[in-house]
Amino acid sequence: MGKVILTGDRPTGRLHLGHYVGSLRRRVELQDSGKFDRIFVMIADAQALTDNADNPSKVRSNIAQVALDYLSVGLDPSRTTLFIQSQISELTELTFFYMNLVTVQRLQRNPTVKQEIALRGFNDSDAADNKAGIPTGFFCYPISQAADITAFKATTVPVGEDQEPMIEQTREIVRKFNATYAPVLVEPEILLPDRAACLRLPGTDGKAKMSKSLGNCIYLSDDPEDIRKKIMGMYTDPTHIQVSDPGHLEGNTVFTYLDAFCRDEHFAAFLPEYACLDELKAHYTRGGLGDVKVKKFLNAVIQAELEPIRARRKEFEADIPYVFEVLRKGSDSARQTAAATLADVKHAMQIDYFNPEVLKGMIQP
Ligand code: TRP
Repeated sequence: MGKVILTGDRPTGRLHLGHYVGSLRRRVELQDSGKFDRIFVMIADAQALTDNADNPSKVRSNIAQVALDYLSVGLDPSRTTLFIQSQISELTELTFFYMNLVTVQRLQRNPTVKQEIALRGFNDSDAADNKAGIPTGFFCYPISQAADITAFKATTVPVGEDQEPMIEQTREIVRKFNATYAPVLVEPEILLPDRAACLRLPGTDGKAKMSKSLGNCIYLSDDPEDIRKKIMGMYTDPTHIQVSDPGHLEGNTVFTYLDAFCRDEHFAAFLPEYACLDELKAHYTRGGLGDVKVKKFLNAVIQAELEPIRARRKEFEADIPYVFEVLRKGSDSARQTAAATLADVKHAMQIDYFNPEVLKGMIQP
């Protein structure tokens, strides 16, 4: 059995640095490693609709944005199948069968679902808008995500830490299905980012997570001047007032970003007085190193990383029909794989009644 990757993103906005260090950069490395037989990267529009039912046009308009982000970071459609979730109707059929293997109580215990319910105020009966109450589709999205993963018989799911409960839930569904029917589904493994700083990149304000709703993001498609301003305004160490004061690294967003982005060659190129990040950190904690200097260095590092991505984005932006052609071809190809799995699933469940073998058993007393 070969190794297969399936992963994806909800198209609710352009992708930012949190997505980049948490998953996009890794996907490109995995693609380039040649170790995988197939790589599927999905734009999860149907999942995005589970909590954006009031704003479907946001989801629709961000499909192209996310596809542009994919192509510009270096996902290559000749090696990675890029597709749109809603175009694969087999996924909803799998979801419907898997629903019988999962209890309402188990979904209620899913930490990600719990957290999202609290965050969105779905449970707040006083809410004036239509968010009072939990949409059934939203509640069931972990099951639909299990369908996404298993439809492609994915062995490996590279995602951020927040997706861990989804993968665990998928594994449970696989085990239950295989035990109940026949072992046709593959139990996937999660692949988390390798650097700790990449697990959950904080926003530029130092808040827990880079998130569109908090307005603390640096987007892959931001222009250089916007990025510079965001970096120069970043949260550092509030007790580091004079340059000579000893600085603290913990919770210091600028250093967290350096942990996520910088390599020794960046020092050679932009700050040759230091050989590596450890030296810079030592000076900062000792005192005598100002925030502005560190921020300027971070800016140079981030600009260097994003420059080629932005340049490629410009090229693809000039040819949107090509972008949709990539998605159409990818969706056609993904559908074939999902259809083969659905056939296996129906056969395992013995609900492929008109298969001559099965039919014989059905019509003979
Ligand atoms: N839940 C993921 C997110 O919010 C998107 C997603 C949908 C996904 N289906 C998936 C990720 C399957 C990995 C595998 O970002």
